Amino acid sequence: MKKDLLTIRDFDSKDIDRILKRSAALKLLRKQGRSYQPLKGKSLGMIFEKSSTRTRVSFEVGMYQLGGQALFLSSNDLQLGRGEPIADTARTLSRYLDGIMIRTFAQLTVEELARHSAIPVINGLTDLHHPCQALADLFTIQEKKKKLKGLRFAYVGDGNNMAHSLIEACARTGMHISLACPAGYEPDAGVLQGAGQDAARTGAEIALTNDPFQAVRDADIVYTDVWASMGQEAEQAERVRAFQGFQVDGKLMKAAKAKALVMHCLPAHRGEEIAADVIDGPQSVVFDQAENRLHTQKAIMEMLMAGKR
Ligand code: CP
Ligand code: NVA
Repeated sequence: MKKDLLTIRDFDSKDIDRILKRSAALKLLRKQGRSYQPLKGKSLGMIFEKSSTRTRVSFEVGMYQLGGQALFLSSNDLQLGRGEPIADTARTLSRYLDGIMIRTFAQLTVEELARHSAIPVINGLTDLHHPCQALADLFTIQEKKKKLKGLRFAYVGDGNNMAHSLIEACARTGMHISLACPAGYEPDAGVLQGAGQDAARTGAEIALTNDPFQAVRDADIVYTDVWASMGQEAEQAERVRAFQGFQVDGKLMKAAKAKALVMHCLPAHRGEEIAADVIDGPQSVVFDQAENRLHTQKAIMEMLMAGKR
């Protein structure tokens, strides 16, 4: 049976463990300049309805390094953009490809695509989730802190797609997560409920506040993301007003542990959600995060498309 990655919760703790181990192994192989091509002769279709730098390039290069090829499919060029049903697109692409990565708006679109596809579907970001980024972030944290369980993860800012996948990732791996969001910008209730069930099993605590200092207190990791996500450009000015006091700056970082990691999925807006001296400072690991997208996604494709579980 094919397996998809639509949200973090599609991967059980054994899957996550394997992804983290394989990410490290694939990263080492790459460093040693050794070739490993389990996807020789296979093709990944990449449907993009939103912009991307990291996701596009890391999937495309990752697929090439694993011996396969990736096709960039802009929704403007696909018949999808002219109204061909998602189900027909899924059935058609399943006859040519070995996997589909999709970046789109509605999570329901990704679910529908997966339902009608005979091949694995990978969520490359929707308005609700960004599981590939969260898996790469787990790998980055484990590399730096040598563990996940029991760490204190603080998220400051918008209760958005990134927050949702991080909540799920923390809950699944036993990291405590504390989120500070302005009133009206809290995470999705359904995501919190689902993650709550995992947290009860792993011992993770999920806390929600409107006070960034409370969320960041004693944190091992301080994470933030843009205030206006792709598709919310019209709300930019209103959001800048609502998020005053939620910038990750030097003063806020003093509330965290001295060696806390500063994380951001990028792209970043310096001077808005994060101060320039913090994102460009010694605690920041944002470009390690960006690099690790490549290694983690290779591990994801190996698992889903070469059937290695
Ligand atoms: N973090 C991330 O997904 O970046 P892109 O939007 O550049 O793909
Ligand atoms: N929350 C951001 C993440 C970008 C990788 C967005 O959706 O635009």
